[in-house]
Amino acid sequence: MGQERKKVIIIGASGGIGRALAGKLSAEGWVVGLTGRSLERLQGLRKELPGETYVCAIDIRDTREAIHQLNNLIMIMRGVDLVIINAGVLFHNLECRWDREEETVKVNVLGFAAMANTAVNYFLQKQSGCVVGISSVAGHRGSGRSPAYNASKAFMINYMEGLRQRLAGTPIRVIDIRPGFINTDMLCDRKSLFGVASTDKAARDIYRAIQKQKRIAYVPAWWGIVMWFFKRLPENLYHWGYRKYAARDNRPRNDKGMA
Ligand SMILES: NC(=O)c1ccc[n+]([C@@H]2O[C@H](COP(=O)([O-])OP(=O)(O)OC[C@H]3O[C@@H](n4cnc5c(N)ncnc54)[C@H](OP(=O)(O)O)[C@@H]3O)[C@@H](O)[C@H]2O)c1
Repeated sequence: MGQERKKVIIIGASGGIGRALAGKLSAEGWVVGLTGRSLERLQGLRKELPGETYVCAIDIRDTREAIHQLNNLIMIMRGVDLVIINAGVLFHNLECRWDREEETVKVNVLGFAAMANTAVNYFLQKQSGCVVGISSVAGHRGSGRSPAYNASKAFMINYMEGLRQRLAGTPIRVIDIRPGFINTDMLCDRKSLFGVASTDKAARDIYRAIQKQKRIAYVPAWWGIVMWFFKRLPENLYHWGYRKYAARDNRPRNDKGMA
C-alpha cells in the first residue's frame, strides 16, 4: 500500500500567488482543493494541474456561508493537512471611500479570520495540521494610499501570532508568509517598485517555508532585513520617505495595487 498523499486547500487559488502555489503543490504530489469566487477560473486551472484536484467556489466575504463551504470541501476531500489562506484585495483609496475600506476589511480581516478559525478548529479535532496565511510586508507600517489594506495585514500578522500562542504544545502549525512585491495583477503598471519576484519564485519560497515549518517567512527572504529597518523608522521620517516614494509611483490601472 502506498503512503496516502498529503492534501491542501488553497483559499484564493484562481490567480497570482495562489495559482502558482496550486501548480507547485500539485507538481509535488499533493491533492489540491482550489477555492475562489470564480468557478470558471478555478475549472480552467484544474485542467492544467497534474494531480488530483477539487474545486469549490467560496466567497469569503460571506463568512457564514464560507465556513460552511470550507467544512464541506474538507469532507468531500476526506480531510486536509494544510490550509493556505491567500485570498486578498487591495484598493488604492486616497479618496477615503468607505466602500473600498469596507470591502478590504470584509475580505482580508473577516474572511481571513473565518477561514483560519475554521481550519484551526478542524485541526484541533484531528490533532495535526498546518495553517498558512499570506499576509504582507505592508502589515508592518501604515499607508496613506491604502490605509485599510496595511491595517488588514497587521491584523493577520497579529492574529496568527495569537493562534501560535494558543496552539503552542500542540502539533498544529501556523505559518505567516510576508511577501514583498510579487508580479501579479495587484502590481499592475506601477513604476517605483523594486525587487519584484515572480509568482513561481514566491511559490517555491512559500513551499520551502512550509516544509521547514517556519513560523514567519519573508518572500523573498531579504525583505526581512528591509522590514527590520523600516519598523524602526520614527513616524515622521517614515511619512516623509513614503510621500516621496508614493509621488513617483503610478496609480494602478484597475485599482488593485500595492502588496
Ligand atoms: N502581489 C504582491 O506583491 C503581494 C505582496 C504581499 C502580499 N500579497 C498578498 O498575497 C495574496 C495574493 O495576492 P496576489 O497578488 O496573488 O493577488 P491576485 O492575483 O489579485 O489574487 C487574489 C486572489 O484572491 C481571491 N479573492 C479575492 N477576493 C476574494 C473573495 N471575496 N473570496 C474568495 N477569494 C477571493 C481571488 O480569486 P477570485 O477573484 O476568483 O475570487 C484571487 O485568487 C493577497 O492576500 C495579497 O494581499 C501580495
